[in-house]
Amino acid sequence: MTDWTALIRDIPDFPQPGILFKDITPLLADHAAFTQVVDDLAAGLTFDKVVGIEARGFILAAPVAYQSGAGFVPIRKKGKLPAETLAASYALEYGSATIEVHADAFDAGDRVLIVDDVLATGGTAEAAVELVRRAGAHVVAASFLMELSFLSGRDRLSGLDVRALVAV
Ligand code: PRP
Repeated sequence: MTDWTALIRDIPDFPQPGILFKDITPLLADHAAFTQVVDDLAAGLTFDKVVGIEARGFILAAPVAYQSGAGFVPIRKKGKLPAETLAASYALEYGSATIEVHADAFDAGDRVLIVDDVLATGGTAEAAVELVRRAGAHVVAASFLMELSFLSGRDRLSGLDVRALVAV
């Protein structure tokens, strides 16, 4: 068992003054830590597809899918996916953001694990859950490497199995 939490480093004032950014790149560069995290994100869960949320979610979700024998589905920022999409918007501190999934990404009744690096306000994850459901699939759980507990994002995902490997 690797203690990988020390491999997440704090970067002050990124991307703007006053924000303490949690940088996972040292963790990703450590094979034992990366492997442990990928294993733990899916532990005890059964699913047909893994959804990764652009961009850092892709880094974790793709190896979870590969290792679990599941398919991988990207949720991307607006305008990136080439075929017919479903879209969901959510509020940011200033303005809003939109994410999309291909309308035909799932087979009916697919069991889906949503994976992302960080659960912060929960806006992104809430929109991702909405997209998966509108696309006809079932969300089994949402797994995050890290949860910023003080932002209470979990409250926006009520009724869902929400997992975070570490809470800060
Ligand atoms: C970050 C993070 C999550 C989201 C969490 O992504 O990777 O997807 O924010 O925030 P929330 O819970 O407040 O919605 P970001 O939008 O910075 O995109 P990136 O991965 O492309 O950097």
